[in-house]
Amino acid sequence: MSSRKAPVLLSHFLSVEKLTTQQVFSLLQRAHDFKSSPTRPEFTREINVANLFFENSTRTKLSFTMAEQKLGLNIFPFSAQTSSVQKRESLYDTLLTMSAIGIDLAVIRHPQNTYYEEVLNQPNSQLNLGLLNAGDGSGQHPSQCLLDLLTIYEEYGGFKGLKVAIVGDLKNSRVARSNMQMLKKLGAHLYFSGPSEWFTSEFSEYGEYVEFDQLVSQIDVLMLLRVQHERHTDLAQEQAFSAASYHQKYGLTISRYQQMKENAIILHPGPINRDVEMASKLVEAPRSRFVKQMTNGVYVRMAMLEAVINGRQIGGI
Ligand code: CP
Repeated sequence: MSSRKAPVLLSHFLSVEKLTTQQVFSLLQRAHDFKSSPTRPEFTREINVANLFFENSTRTKLSFTMAEQKLGLNIFPFSAQTSSVQKRESLYDTLLTMSAIGIDLAVIRHPQNTYYEEVLNQPNSQLNLGLLNAGDGSGQHPSQCLLDLLTIYEEYGGFKGLKVAIVGDLKNSRVARSNMQMLKKLGAHLYFSGPSEWFTSEFSEYGEYVEFDQLVSQIDVLMLLRVQHERHTDLAQEQAFSAASYHQKYGLTISRYQQMKENAIILHPGPINRDVEMASKLVEAPRSRFVKQMTNGVYVRMAMLEAVINGRQIGGI
């Protein structure tokens, strides 16, 4: 990445929807800086952060924790299972408590779409902390989107004209929603595939549905989505689900892999259902960027945390 860009200043980091392309490139530049050099910003006071995960996570939680450590933040442990959430304390009251104690930033994953609106629209609120959205229901996953963008940028040096296919459980995917909004804004051509019943009208605004076998040899980036069984509410359909059949119809089989362009790349947000979305043997294949995505996640999360620290003017930078 070349020229220095204006720093991004945000009170909260909730969604990618309203980010400008300039802000995205600035965040990617910062992530690249953090990745290429061990130096970190010198904040003028201690900054306290808590990670609140109300849905399971391995990558996002550990990666935010690593990013926070690399930035020198004080990390305060929080467990939904052992907190007063179990006594029905609301999310707002949990955050109000944290804010009163001196927590500056809260990284939150929550099953409810746009959970943060209720938190931020309380009348007469004394809440004073920055929120970073680590995934809300089927809504947004901003840090996953940015790490995907960094991984694509490192490969192609830009996004304009790239053919990107998003394949799989579209309907339930916050990864698909965040990425389609931002990739379209950045000039990529989007295609969708997978079970057609999961391609709802909101996706047709961003790109067309194409059968996977017609797409696979044409695309530069293949973004596979996890089948999110935990969000499937149609029990009969869920009981009828066959991993082997899904893999044959919509998964990246060895045969489809062999039809891909030589320099095409494969992304998957994880966790992977091996031999469902992709053949287990392909997870670490030459075109797969699964491991790189997880590495890049640390650096984009450092950039996101820094953007909120600077936006709230709590670090003196
Ligand atoms: N990609 C992702 O969000 O993974 P985790 O659920 O493990 O955090």
